[in-house]
Amino acid sequence: MNTKVSRVYPRSLTFGDTTVELATMTAADAPALAEFVKTLPVHDRLFVRRDVSHPKVLDAWIGALAQGHVTSLVARDGATMVGCTAIVVDPLSWSSHVGELRVLVAPAWRGRGLGRALIQENFALALGLHLSKLTVQMTVDQRAAIAVFEELGFRAEAVLRDHVKDHDGQAHDLALLSHDVAEVQSRLRMFGVDDALQH
Ligand SMILES: CC(C)(COP(=O)(O)OP(=O)(O)OC[C@H]1O[C@@H](n2cnc3c(N)ncnc32)[C@H](O)[C@@H]1OP(=O)(O)O)[C@@H](O)C(=O)NCCC(=O)NCCS
Repeated sequence: MNTKVSRVYPRSLTFGDTTVELATMTAADAPALAEFVKTLPVHDRLFVRRDVSHPKVLDAWIGALAQGHVTSLVARDGATMVGCTAIVVDPLSWSSHVGELRVLVAPAWRGRGLGRALIQENFALALGLHLSKLTVQMTVDQRAAIAVFEELGFRAEAVLRDHVKDHDGQAHDLALLSHDVAEVQSRLRMFGVDDALQH
């Protein structure tokens, strides 16, 4: 797998009168990431395979960036992290063509279009990483989040019963959605616009 990010960062996104900077996440973002995670409701962390409120999990995330197994973006409003994403790939598995996408937006920033923009940005990243499929998972009650992903072409593939347990020991079902990135790329190529996504 080619883990080189071919898209150019930083880039700017405008939401109303606020400009958000998008950049690739590096080890220097670790303190801001730890602050960002504190703003998330506990329930929103359940869909991520590991509990991101745990410092060891954040350390592993930052460590994986250097190894190229995780490609992460940060969205900043000034010095404050207001969103972040991760595409996780296991290059040694039989699914090295599949990226697991995670998208998190700070509660104060939700409903302004940042989440949708970050998901679209990750389509371009996935193409640059030569992935053919993206998966995303979230608890089945995250109806709004599921709707955003479906609107962008993700389709439900499975429901994993009682798959995550919260800190109170209550089990929740996980929905697994996927997107055929390779198919989208071939459609774009047909229209001659796929190059635009690579820069
Ligand atoms: C899912 C998530 C990334 C969406 O981010 P966002 O910045 O709010 O998304 P957008 O502003 O682009 O919203 C897209 C649409 O979903 C709706 N929406 C998003 N989150 C919503 C929420 N919590 N409640 C109600 N509607 C919501 C918006 O109204 C918008 O629809 P519209 O443009 O037609 O009005 C964000 O809610 C989040 O971080 N959730 C917790 C983590 C999670 O579930 N991540 C997804 C699994 S990886």
